[in-house]
Amino acid sequence: MNSIFSDRISDVPRSFIREILKVAVDESIISFAGGLPNRDLFPVRELQAAANKVLEESGKDALQYSSTEGDPALRKWIAERYRAKQGLDIDPNSILITTGSQQGLDLLGKTIVNEGDGVIVEEPGYLGAIQAFSLYKPVFHPVPVGEDGLDLNGLHSVLAKHAPKLFYCVPNFQNPAGISYSKENREAVAQALKGRKTVLVEDDPYGELRFLGQQKPSFRQFMPDTSVLLGSFSKIIAPSLRIGWIVANDAVMDKLVIAKQAADLHTNYLGQRIVLQYLKDNDLDKHIALIRKAYGSQREAMVAGIREHFPVETRYTLPEGGMFLWITLPEGLSALTVFERAIRQKVAFVPGDPFYVNRKNVNTLRLNFSSVDEETIRTGIGRLGEVLKDMIRKG
Ligand SMILES: Cc1ncc(COP(=O)(O)O)c(C=O)c1O
Repeated sequence: MNSIFSDRISDVPRSFIREILKVAVDESIISFAGGLPNRDLFPVRELQAAANKVLEESGKDALQYSSTEGDPALRKWIAERYRAKQGLDIDPNSILITTGSQQGLDLLGKTIVNEGDGVIVEEPGYLGAIQAFSLYKPVFHPVPVGEDGLDLNGLHSVLAKHAPKLFYCVPNFQNPAGISYSKENREAVAQALKGRKTVLVEDDPYGELRFLGQQKPSFRQFMPDTSVLLGSFSKIIAPSLRIGWIVANDAVMDKLVIAKQAADLHTNYLGQRIVLQYLKDNDLDKHIALIRKAYGSQREAMVAGIREHFPVETRYTLPEGGMFLWITLPEGLSALTVFERAIRQKVAFVPGDPFYVNRKNVNTLRLNFSSVDEETIRTGIGRLGEVLKDMIRKG
């Protein structure tokens, strides 16, 4: 009998992380596996006050249907922030409010990708993007990333053979590897794509969470006509709000608005109004400074623990911001096998496998440092170090 399900959905694997984390629900397990912001830093009281104010002062408006593009005042606020923080000149009309930046990925897949079209993804890359684009049945072209950004030889060799429709990247504090593209690397990537029709999708949920080093220019500065920029309040206010945005030029915006309308009419308008009220009544920079300080210390604790406890053969990235650090184990040591052992020692992480489109049993893994306190980080990294040393010793 034929399946009742579409090929589109049948071919997309379940979220590997969700499956694997079922094993890690035990409260005694220290988990570096999640991708969650630190809940202790959520502005609960401030959002409560903002919600009360919106409902008291303009409840009837805030509860009504609204425009597909999103609240004009919120779009204006976002445009002004781009100008103030990055010197980017963005018209509020070029901003579409989305239900998290995750929806932005789906809408871009829907509007740009036909079955069989090429999509460049980073290797390793954000698995939520791999999953979102997979529904549109593209051919993925993975290009490796390293400490300095994208592997330019890898990019050139894909471009020599293919004409990809999309290039998806997370140039600031990448999920999963924590790396960032240098300014020179961004320029070289933009140069390689010059004159091509490939749309560069710059996903930037972590850019404001820098605790070290200098801010780097957005791809929008180098290729304003052929890039799309995604942003989100998830990591700087709270993810449950599900409010993100896409910055795109008129032609792409036109199509995105149609796709958005068909998907959900508009993003939760009450939520948009609450966020805007919060932004009016509070100092977001001050709030972000708290997050940066906390994540910076948590990252320090993790790096110190790795240096003390991990076998010398282990390599690790040194993120300047964001929430993740990436480990490369000695060749031949499967992170999935390490995971099974680590769970028994009550510590969890995400094995690298789901972050690759065509590699299995890899020797890499992702550690999250934002949702675990420093003391617990020290304990958990110590446990993981023992597991690794033991496995290497026993070959
Ligand atoms: C690179 C990247 N893009 C997008 C998202 C989704 O974010 P949002 O909550 O805005 O949908 C995440 C979430 O972890 C992410 O890491």
